[in-house]
Order: sequence, then structure tokens, then C-alpha cells
Amino acid sequence: TCPGSLIVVSNRQPYRHEYEDDEEAAAETASRSIEVDEPTGGLTAGLDPVVQESEGTWIAWGDGEADFDVTDEDNCVAVPPAEESYTLRRLDLSDEAVDSYYYGFSNRVLWPLCHGFTDLVENRSNDFDWYRTVNERFADAVSEHATDDSVVWLQDYHFALAPGMIRESVPQSTTIAQFWHIPWPLARTFQHCPAGGSLLEGLLGNDLLGFHVDRYAERFLDCVQRYVPAASVDRSRRVVRYNGTTTRVVATPMGVDAESYDRDARSVSDAAASELLERYDISPENVIGLGVDRLDYSKGIPERLAALERFFERNPSWHGEFTFVQSCSLSRTNIRTYERHGDLVRSEVTRINQRFGTDDWTPIVYTEDYLSNDELCALYRRADVMVVSPLCDGMNLVAQEYVAASVDGDGTLLLSDRTGAHETLGSHALTIDPADIDGFASQLEVAVAMPLHGRQRRIRTLRNRVFDGDLEWWMDTQFDWIRRVHNERRSDT
Ligand code: G6P
Repeated sequence: TCPGSLIVVSNRQPYRHEYEDDEEAAAETASRSIEVDEPTGGLTAGLDPVVQESEGTWIAWGDGEADFDVTDEDNCVAVPPAEESYTLRRLDLSDEAVDSYYYGFSNRVLWPLCHGFTDLVENRSNDFDWYRTVNERFADAVSEHATDDSVVWLQDYHFALAPGMIRESVPQSTTIAQFWHIPWPLARTFQHCPAGGSLLEGLLGNDLLGFHVDRYAERFLDCVQRYVPAASVDRSRRVVRYNGTTTRVVATPMGVDAESYDRDARSVSDAAASELLERYDISPENVIGLGVDRLDYSKGIPERLAALERFFERNPSWHGEFTFVQSCSLSRTNIRTYERHGDLVRSEVTRINQRFGTDDWTPIVYTEDYLSNDELCALYRRADVMVVSPLCDGMNLVAQEYVAASVDGDGTLLLSDRTGAHETLGSHALTIDPADIDGFASQLEVAVAMPLHGRQRRIRTLRNRVFDGDLEWWMDTQFDWIRRVHNERRSDT
């Protein structure tokens, strides 16, 4: 539980209001009915009960069509709808603000830079100014809700400037914490970051700054030492003093709600998986490989397809016997790089399927359809080999979800060593370097040929790790740290 009254700040909101019917249908009834999308997974679903318990506030971008039809004059709405217990404060961002802050500086500069894709960084004029303006708006909203006993908890890279701004305007005893969910880059990469010094100074407004793994925390401290000369850095304690604030930097790998994946996977019937295979026209006898990703260039999907192509080249005996299902959810499609990457992925799938496919076998079944949680759990449970091959990933929760949903205890995980998840799962997964296509194909060969007892032994250990370091553990650990810095701040003031 949170030590004070919690104010969560995130770009994505926990509840979104949408119109149920389209405009034309509504014209006939003169009013449009509104439905609420509830959080279904990940951090948002995990944090929601904590904010409920602390009767706190959640501040986020209101991106739903009907969001501002249900808010009061301060853009607030009480949620959850069925049992109102906290305030969701929405920020109404103009199209220009969204284009520059979200599609601009956040996802054209910070995302590629932090993932090491410096050649994809696109720094358009005005984007940083909008990033600062939107951070200011979030900071202003926070200061309107903050009290002596508040704990402000910001999420992710959309808010590097906000902590410093918030610090200026809230009571001395307010605690500010942040979790950075994506990688922190090497200092020699960070040097290319526009306004990098301001971002570091902004982040040093936090009392607590969390990363998934040690190496991101260390790289952050490297950058502070290099680019914020006025900061004093205690490397051994991972503490920075700057401008009157002491920032503690910690590494806590985030987990998933393992029990719920386990439970949902157990409750899906065999029929659910069979139906999915039938829908995709896959023989029920086939060995199934699976990839589940946002359609993002950091996920290493073209490399995965190249490895599959190599695998099929080298192993004609697997033709017709092994099918790979790749599910992609469309993401940030307003950005050209994403659009082009999507085109590349689709055309590679088509080419490989034309090369090896037959009348009754499609080697790679590619879908961008939305999968319900039950469908996803059915696929995870049925998949013999799960492939998680990012070129760079802060953590990767899909790998953990698969392990939690592998309730029959015989699934195999192929995992890129460039993910945060590899730190805890690497020793019992089959490790891949996503850029080494031959090595990757060899690991696919190892996976499909692995004897049952080997698969069972590996997944058993993986399951223990995923259950031990689940979302609840992560949240408890974060709140233990938050409690500590909160008490320190209160005793100082
Ligand atoms: C990553 C980020 C999240 C983000 C998610 C989806 O996991 O760390 O902050 O919400 O991607 O991306 P989107 O841009 O759609 O929110």
C-alpha cells in the first residue's frame, strides 16, 4: 500500500469513455450512448486497485472520444464506474499538442534514442517546446491536487521534465517518484539527445527514480555525472544530490499478474485453442511457434522472420509440420517509421509464405486482429515455442505472460539477450541474439527438438521466477522504497 495519498501520472489513462454507436445512428436517437473501456492488463490494471485503496487521483491524457462528456468543469470523473473511489483527472490535449508531445518528442526522439536507434531519431522543430508545455500542464494539474501527505508517482518517458516542475510548486513534504519503463541508453548515445541536460535535471526533481535493471540505473548515473556537473553523485549508494533534492536511483524489474494468467489459461477450454487454429487454418497436429508484439521496430520482427526463413530452408522435414503465428497490434501508425516498418513486416511474411507455403500449409500466420485476453491465454497455452526477440526492450512482459500461462509445463521460451527480462529468465530460456540469424535459426531447431523432460525442467524454473517477481512483488518493492523516501522527506521538513 501507498504511504500517503497517491497521485499517479501516466500518459495512458486507466478508463476511457467512447461512444457506443456511430454518429449516424445517434442522429436518429438524438443522443449517443457512452461506454467505458476498463483496464485489462499490465501496469494500469495493476495500479488501479492501489489508487482505489488510497482514494487518490490519476492524471492522464484524455484520448477517448467521449471522455469530456462525462467529466466535471475541472475535467475530473470519479472511477471505477461501478464503485467510484478515486478521481481521474483528464488533460484535454489539442491535436497539435498530441502530434508534437506524443507522436513527436516522446516517440520520434526519446523512444528511438533510449532503444539505441539513433538513426531513427527525428527532432522536428517545436516538438520539444510542446513536450515541455505538456509536461508543464501535467505538473500544474499535480500541484492542484497535491497535499502535504501526497505521493506523486509518474510513469515513463513522457514525463522527464515534470518532476522538476512539480517540485517547484508542491509542499516540501510531498514525495515525488517515477518509474522509467524503457531502457536508459549509454552516455555516448544520450549525448545526441536534444535538451538532454534539461531532461536529466527534470528527472532529478524525483525523490525516487526506478529502472528495471541495474545497467539502466548505472547508465543514468553515468549521464548525470557527465552532463549535470552541479550534481553530486554517490555511485555506491546510487544517490544523487542536486538543487536541494536527493534522488535515490533503484532497479526493480517489473512483473506481470502471474496468477491471473495462470488462472485464465487453466480456465480456457481446449476448444478455444482449437477454434483459433481452425480460424487461422492451422492443422491441429502442428507444432506451434508464437510471437506477440506491438508492431514496433524495436521488437526485432524482421529478424525473427529471417530466422524462420532460415529454419525452413534448413529443415524441409518441418514443412507442413511447424506453423508460426505472429500477432501484431498496430501502434503509433501516424509516424512514418512505424508505417514503413509495418509494410516491411507484411511483405516479408507474404514473400516467405510464397516461397515455402503449400495449398494446405501457411508457414507464417500473420494477424493484426485484436485478441481478447481469453484468446491470448489460449494461444499462450497451446504454443510449443514462444519467440521474444527484441533488438532492445526495457523489460518485455510478453515473455513473462507466456511463462505464467504455460500451465501444462511443457512450453519453450526463446528470449533475446537484449531485453530486461533476460536478466531473470535468461538462464532457463533459450537465449538468442536477434541479429545473428543463423544462431537464431539454430535455437529454433533446438526448441522444436527438445525432449519433454528438458522443456519441463526449464519452464518449471521460469515459472518460479515469474511468480516470485510478479506485479504484486514489484509494486510492494516500489512502495517500500516510496515509504522510505517519504519518511525521510517528512522527517527533513
Ligand atoms: C511501452 C511504454 C508504455 C506505452 C506502451 C504502449 O511499453 O513503456 O509507456 O504505454 O509502450 O505504447 P503507446 O504509445 O501506445 O502508449
